[in-house]
Amino acid sequence: MTEQMRAWTFSKRGRPQDVLTLGSVAKPTITSPDQVLIKVACTSLFSSYKAIMALLPVSASQKRIPEAEFSGEIVEYGENVREELKVPGVAVFGLTIPMEPKTELLRFMRNPNGTLTEYIVIRQNLIVPKPANMSFEEASGMAGMGATALQFVDAAKLNAGDYVLVNGGSGAVGMLLLQLLKKVVGPEGKVVATCSGSKKDVVLQYADEAIDYRAHAPVHTYLAQEYGTRKFDAIIDAASTQELYDHSPEYLNEGKLFLDMSAKHPVDRGWQYSDLLPLIANQIKNNFWPAFLGGVPRKYMFISGTPDLKTLQKIRELIEDGTFKGTVDSIWGMDEVIQVRDSHGE
Ligand SMILES: NC(=O)c1ccc[n+]([C@@H]2O[C@H](COP(=O)([O-])OP(=O)(O)OC[C@H]3O[C@@H](n4cnc5c(N)ncnc54)[C@H](OP(=O)(O)O)[C@@H]3O)[C@@H](O)[C@H]2O)c1
Repeated sequence: MTEQMRAWTFSKRGRPQDVLTLGSVAKPTITSPDQVLIKVACTSLFSSYKAIMALLPVSASQKRIPEAEFSGEIVEYGENVREELKVPGVAVFGLTIPMEPKTELLRFMRNPNGTLTEYIVIRQNLIVPKPANMSFEEASGMAGMGATALQFVDAAKLNAGDYVLVNGGSGAVGMLLLQLLKKVVGPEGKVVATCSGSKKDVVLQYADEAIDYRAHAPVHTYLAQEYGTRKFDAIIDAASTQELYDHSPEYLNEGKLFLDMSAKHPVDRGWQYSDLLPLIANQIKNNFWPAFLGGVPRKYMFISGTPDLKTLQKIRELIEDGTFKGTVDSIWGMDEVIQVRDSHGE
């Protein structure tokens, strides 16, 4: 008889509380020499997965396991994996959704095996050993979030002494961005982040200024007042705030980049296909509407994180040298997934 394991699965698209069930599925086995079998220690809930669950067409005959970010231990390995992984019990972290090359997205859509389960089989180029100075809980969110933060900092093309704004600086990616950015702009530069009032202290561990986005609503007015003279040299938006881009010439230097992480998607509205229309409209407007027809005269870029092996190795180095520190919002048991998904927006 096939060995079974516990897993959360869904067989139709919708909200987690409506479509997720906890049950048994067949334990996966290695089918190619570049794969490893991992006993999952922790899964970090991916901020975009709620939208993926609501939009991804799923066959009723398929039991699809959600989520993608994880940490765990290698139980078995194929003969072609890297030497550093050929150690039963070695602790690793990684991500099951590589976004590059683009064909990997199709592979992900066909593959029903996510990480909200006990065991996963994954290719060796999607994992790296977990540094000893980080816990399984912290490391479970580092692959996708770390790759996204690294890529945005590269794209921002900042120099020492520059000013940078992170909208949504208290989030999973936002905190990693702040940890990197202060090193890039140095003591003469300035890192400013928006967050809720209760998270100002944690944000100020890395940022020079934390702006409570509720106390200073609308934030674009506050920014125009405070940064209308010495403007920013890049803005990274991790919180889907279209008005921030619309008003950006008031506080973003000419020729500098507005980098968007979340494609201005509607947050926590149930995610119907019709919700994509404003998102698509904003993308067209932000990318293509010329300034002489009323478009915003600042360069807009949406970027998607690309967690390949080289990036994962860089993330590991940044954890080891203390640049990247894990931030855990809360820890929940396998049986409590619905509650935690309910309590988080998006
Ligand atoms: N492009 C990519 O490759 C990529 C990769 C990963 C994630 N993403 C997307 O990027 C976004 C951020 O991801 P994440 O994992 O960091 O999400 P997260 O952990 O949920 O953080 C989002 C942050 O946004 C803040 N926020 C909410 N409303 C705000 C507002 N009106 N003004 C300013 N800040 C506000 C929240 O701050 P408080 O908690 O302090 O209220 C929260 O910390 C998500 O939309 C996610 O889907 C994109």
